[in-house]
Amino acid sequence: MSPERHLAPAGTPLSLAPGAAARPEPAEPAVIRRAAEALRQGALVAFPTETVYGLGADATNGAAVARVFAAKGRPRFNPLIVHVEGTSGARDLALWDTRAERLAEAFWPGPLSLVLPLRADAPVASLATAGLDTVALRCPDHPVALDLLREAACPLAAPSANPSGRVSPTRASHVAEALARECAVILDAGPCRVGLESTVLDLSGDQPALLRPGGVTQAALESILGPVVGRPDVTTGPARAPGQLASHYAPSRPVRLDAKEPTEQAGEALLRFGPEAPAGYDPIYDLSARGDLEEAAARLFDGLRALDRPGVAGIAVMPIPEIGLGVAMNDRLRRAAAPVEGDGDG
Ligand code: TXA
Ligand code: MG
Repeated sequence: MSPERHLAPAGTPLSLAPGAAARPEPAEPAVIRRAAEALRQGALVAFPTETVYGLGADATNGAAVARVFAAKGRPRFNPLIVHVEGTSGARDLALWDTRAERLAEAFWPGPLSLVLPLRADAPVASLATAGLDTVALRCPDHPVALDLLREAACPLAAPSANPSGRVSPTRASHVAEALARECAVILDAGPCRVGLESTVLDLSGDQPALLRPGGVTQAALESILGPVVGRPDVTTGPARAPGQLASHYAPSRPVRLDAKEPTEQAGEALLRFGPEAPAGYDPIYDLSARGDLEEAAARLFDGLRALDRPGVAGIAVMPIPEIGLGVAMNDRLRRAAAPVEGDGDG
């Protein structure tokens, strides 16, 4: 069924139809209340989290969730993360176990999504989980996201608020550039603190499996759980879960990794990490002049967007150490550099 068939009845005060462009609004209490009301009516709301901005819909409303897929151009086989305001909300939706409990104690609210068996009586729309018998749950560490969840009083299915395959938004203005017409409200709370999406950990089997590196490192997970199985390199190995195709997070210009030498190409821009830079690149965007991985992670998507502009032939990226948040940064950068082969994670 096409999502356009699910528009709200005539006379609704909210514009659910594409056409009226939302502008970012400061996330004040009255605006959050209006956004929650829009969600309850089945509209989409962009909201800040500590990782990236999400494009939220009431996860229990199939028509609303269908609008998310349509807005992003996201393939329907790729399930969405469902956001909850705490562990009691999570228990209503998934079969919760002691591993989940220990991880939630350590990392929730925070950048960790847990894939768990879906409860048979969970009121989640099957489109949100792409029909799987598991659900990815996350409790975001952001006061606006938590207020919105409480006010809306429903779980929120929310992928990153970008067109599928493109760079995730870390500012409200990034959302407005691409999805203003799809959102009833865009809540603006400034740049996201972490800047990379959540870690996705699969707890649906006996062995915890890392499906996506993110804001919580594998070492941090292992300090709680013991060994966690990694997943094959996205650019070479087979996909272990929906939404792990190689090309994703892609600017429209070519991305070249591991730039250490002076450039041989006029007009090549540089994402710099650390104080030194090889010669000849222009413009240069500093991820972190002091070589700090947290600072660099928070600026990565903003940098890819800032350099993806007319007059730039390609984006070269200096090496990022494969430690801590660098693992998630390199994962996103490899996908940004991979040739486009279809719809990516989104
Ligand atoms: O930080 C984040 O996680 C952001 C903010 C908005 O919370 N959200 C986000 O959502 O990045 P999205 O839809 O762009 O990425 C969701 C990832 C995809 O890789 C998807 O395949 C995976 O989670 N996922 C969701 N449900 C799953 C499930 N049941 N089994 C396996 N993977 C799942
Ligand atoms: Mg995404």
